[in-house]
Amino acid sequence: MLSQLDDNTRPATMAGLFELAPAKINLALHVVGRRADGYHLLESIVTFADHGDRLDFAPAERDRFSFSGRFAPALSTGSGKHADNLVLKARDRLRSLLQDQGLAAPPVAIHLEKNLPVAAGIGGGSADAAAALRGLLRLWDVEVSAPELDRLALELGADVPMCLRSEPMLVRGIGEDVTLLPDFPSLALVLANPLVGVSTPQIFRRLERKNNPPIGPKGEGDWVDFLGMLRNDLEPPARSLVPEIAQVSAMLDAEDALLTRMTGSGATCFGLFETMDTARGAASALQRRKPDWYFQAVQTAGHKSGTSS
Ligand code: C5P
Repeated sequence: MLSQLDDNTRPATMAGLFELAPAKINLALHVVGRRADGYHLLESIVTFADHGDRLDFAPAERDRFSFSGRFAPALSTGSGKHADNLVLKARDRLRSLLQDQGLAAPPVAIHLEKNLPVAAGIGGGSADAAAALRGLLRLWDVEVSAPELDRLALELGADVPMCLRSEPMLVRGIGEDVTLLPDFPSLALVLANPLVGVSTPQIFRRLERKNNPPIGPKGEGDWVDFLGMLRNDLEPPARSLVPEIAQVSAMLDAEDALLTRMTGSGATCFGLFETMDTARGAASALQRRKPDWYFQAVQTAGHKSGTSS
């Protein structure tokens, strides 16, 4: 595997065909049960940021994979293996699916600009895998049916099907049952991460109660008020493992975030702000206090007429 990796900046010749891999944010995540195979049944309100990784694609003589960006060093260490493997796995699984159908999937150079922290609860590896699938389908100029693509995505990881769409959604099951939320507002958030990597299986193992109350119907009210009544069931076990989560969350509260919560299995927390200006101001202030941590103001996908546009 390592022989395929060259730590380069993005080759100029690759400009042209690229895909963004937006950060995934679980605005609420309820763990409502467990499947026989051990996977947890979730209900989650998920949205996507205007910030993430970037994948470039170009035809090549042989398959190549290179990477750059602030968090590229994490990809070649043990903790980050998952992320780069998923791009290559996505390429290989898609190629064999196409070849089974008699379609060509010639060699490709993929460059990953890794802007998102790794093992951070914002779906970096899953977003990269989804972007790889989207980009390769365009580069190879082929189509596969939506159910086939969803099946392949789910095999790559529970969060990959949602990352294929990158729109506000309600997710059920382990991630395969996606309902888009067309009336969901665009939000101004600050993502904050103390750069302590968190292992998702470890957090699920520490979760004591597996059958928590579901999200339930929203009714007529405002989405943001509704979010305030929800939770992330993975936050207590993650806080008990990573004390910095309480710290980062308190820092967002001190910036007067309207709502502060952890996303995914952590350690990234988000703070909700009234406008992008206040979010940017809070992110800058927090960055000055903790220069080594990750703070990013983001605007999420959705209706721009919403409360926080
Ligand atoms: O599917 P993915 O590789 O992202 O999941 C990583 C691990 O997280 C799984 O192997 C499983 O231990 C745990 N997990 C879970 N329930 C989910 C999603 C993930 O228990 N819904």
